[in-house]
Amino acid sequence: MKIRKDFLPFSRPSIGEAEISAVVACLKSGWITTGGLCKAFEEQLCALTGAPRAVSLSSATAGMHLTLAALDIGPGDEVITPSMTFASTVNMIALHQAKPVFVDIDYGTLNLCCDEIEEKITRRTKAIIPVHFAGAPADMDRINRLARKYSLKVIEDAAHAVGAYYKGTHAGGFGHPAIFSFHPIKNITTGEGGMITLKSASLEKKLRLARFHGIERDAWKRYGRGGNPSYDIANPGYKYNLPDLLAALGLAQMERWREFNARRRMLAGLYLDGLRGTEGLDLPEVPSYDHVHAWHLFIVKVRGIARDSFMRKLADYNIGYGLHFSPAHSLSYVKKRFGVKAKSLPRTSRAAGRIISLPLFPDMTENDVHYVCAAVKEILKNV
Ligand SMILES: Cc1ncc(COP(=O)(O)O)c(C=O)c1O
Repeated sequence: MKIRKDFLPFSRPSIGEAEISAVVACLKSGWITTGGLCKAFEEQLCALTGAPRAVSLSSATAGMHLTLAALDIGPGDEVITPSMTFASTVNMIALHQAKPVFVDIDYGTLNLCCDEIEEKITRRTKAIIPVHFAGAPADMDRINRLARKYSLKVIEDAAHAVGAYYKGTHAGGFGHPAIFSFHPIKNITTGEGGMITLKSASLEKKLRLARFHGIERDAWKRYGRGGNPSYDIANPGYKYNLPDLLAALGLAQMERWREFNARRRMLAGLYLDGLRGTEGLDLPEVPSYDHVHAWHLFIVKVRGIARDSFMRKLADYNIGYGLHFSPAHSLSYVKKRFGVKAKSLPRTSRAAGRIISLPLFPDMTENDVHYVCAAVKEILKNV
C-alpha cells in the first residue's frame, strides 16, 4: 500500500473558533486566574455527572493528591487499584507512604477485575480506586457493594470518562470523589487541568482549602470590590487551582463533548469492523453490563509480532501510537519498594507486553481509520 506523506498523530485536541474566542474573551476580561469561569466549569461538571459538587484543579494528579490527603490515607494504609493504570495514581499513594495493592484486570476490557478485589482486602485497606479504563466504566455496583461491606472509600479515576455512563449514571455520579483529567489527549481538554466531582460538603471544604494554600477564600473574592484581602491559614495547603483562562477553554469544550464522543464512537466502530478477524491481533472488548463507552482510547493487543517492532513499523507508515500503560508493578521504584510479582497479576502481565493505542481523536477522518487498518493488517501479514 502507498505510505501517506503526512504524519497521523496518535491524538490531537479539537480546538475550534469557539474555543479560541472564549480564551481571547477571558484574556481581554482583566481576570485570568481562578474565578467565575472556573465556577461555571465546575457547575457544568455537576450537570454532566449528577454530582452536587465539583472542585476544579490544575490536573487530575493534583486531584488524587488532595483526595488521598483529605481522606487521611497515609502510612500503614493500603489502597486497592489496578496496576494497569497511569503511574500518577500509584505515585500519589506512594508519596503518602501508603501501599498500593494491585488487583488484576480483565484482559478484554483492561478494566479492573471485580472478582479479585475482595481477596485483596485486609484490615489495613482504606480505599479502592477503580479506573474507567479507556472510557469503559468499571463495574460500580460490585465495587460499591464491597466498599459498603468493608467500610472502604471509593475514589473513581475518571480521567478517561467524560461521557462514560454505567447503568444510566455518569462516572462521578455515585457520590464518591471522582477525578477527571483535561490533559490534551482526553475527551475534552483545558490544556492541562482536572476536576473532582463529589457529594460530601465537608470533603469539598477540605479540598478547596488544600487547593489554594489553605486560604479560606478564593482570590477572586478577596480582590473583588469591597473584598477583604487579609487571610488566615489553619492548615498549610498546595497551589493546585485551575486558572479561568483554562476554564474558558474547558467551558467551550463542554459544549462539544457529545459531538466529540459521537465521533469517537463512530471511528472506534470503523476500527472494530476494519480489524475484526485480523490474525495476531486482539481487539478491545466492551463490558457486558449496560453502559455508554466514552471511547477515550482504542487499544489493541498485538500477538503476532513483538510490540516494539510493531511500533517501529507503524512509524514507517507515518502512524503515531500510544502506550496505556506501562503497568505500575513493573516500575523500578514500585518493584523495589513494594515487591509485586508479575505472576500475581497474570492478565495484566499478558496484556502489558501487547497493548498499543492506535490513533483516535475527533478530527480524524474515516479514511485515516481505513489507512491505519490497512497498515496494521499489512504489518501483521508480513511478519
Ligand atoms: C488513568 C489516568 N489517571 C490519571 C491521569 C492523570 O491525569 P493528569 O495528567 O490530568 O494529572 C491520567 C492521565 O493521563 C490517566 O490516564
